[in-house]
Amino acid sequence: MSESDRKSVLVTGASRGIGREIALRFAKAGYDAAIVYSSDASKDKADEVASLISSCGSKALALKCDVSKSDEVNAMVASVLDAFGKIDVLVNNAGITRDGLLMRMTDQQIDAVLDANLKGVLYVIRACLPAMMKARSGRIVNLSSIVGLHGNPGQANYSASKAGIIGVTKSIAKEVASRNILVNAVAPGAIDTDMFASLGDKIREAIVGTIPLGRPGTAAEVAEAVLFLAGQTYITGQVIQVDGGMGI
Ligand SMILES: NC(=O)c1ccc[n+]([C@@H]2O[C@H](COP(=O)([O-])OP(=O)(O)OC[C@H]3O[C@@H](n4cnc5c(N)ncnc54)[C@H](OP(=O)(O)O)[C@@H]3O)[C@@H](O)[C@H]2O)c1
Repeated sequence: MSESDRKSVLVTGASRGIGREIALRFAKAGYDAAIVYSSDASKDKADEVASLISSCGSKALALKCDVSKSDEVNAMVASVLDAFGKIDVLVNNAGITRDGLLMRMTDQQIDAVLDANLKGVLYVIRACLPAMMKARSGRIVNLSSIVGLHGNPGQANYSASKAGIIGVTKSIAKEVASRNILVNAVAPGAIDTDMFASLGDKIREAIVGTIPLGRPGTAAEVAEAVLFLAGQTYITGQVIQVDGGMGI
């Protein structure tokens, strides 16, 4: 494959969990991969993901960037374009939770989640679109959540951000379809990652009890859906639930 035929993916929040699996799955499929993390504590993990990507024979770039800060996002996307020349696929995966009942939720809990999960997605898409529009090609996959579709007590801030991502997905799909840029979302149910582990045994058991397939999903199962969407030519503005039937 010549250099210009190589495809590249940018995955936010890929130092661990679902984003890590997405980056590795794309690397195994032959993509060069740029991965984004936000905290210094994640640097070693992100470097490890980058070296696993390299061992697949793909180019890897690990970049620290807080997606809730538009100036950092613009600089990060410029670095990816410098390194790869293009971004064929953008996966907006970075996300956080700051759970609590709304009555007791602080401004900080509301702002942090909306800033990282929702404004972050807008900032990263905005920064990537000029290159995709010029290329007249692009695929964007946003990580929503089952709670963005169905709500969840204790997660009003998070549900709002994930429902917002669905609105962003559909709006941008309409804005850029004429440029052959397809925008979709994946809405995972309960997936076995640090985020799910942080819920504690009792809540986890209760959640698993509501899943028809009787188990949490794996990050690899979400990654397959993201790779599938990245390869599509006539699906846009859609939300695919990867939830073991939880949302039926
Ligand atoms: N796990 C689930 O059950 C589940 C279900 C539905 C949807 N999801 C969604 O799937 C995505 C991944 O979830 P996960 O469980 O894999 O999460 P995770 O294990 O907690 O990992 C989150 C990743 O996002 C990064 N990140 C967080 N804030 C960021 C910011 N402001 N800027 C850049 N990177 C940031 C983290 O890096 P740092 O630590 O360095 O910040 C980390 O790499 C999230 O959007 C989540 O909402 C997860």
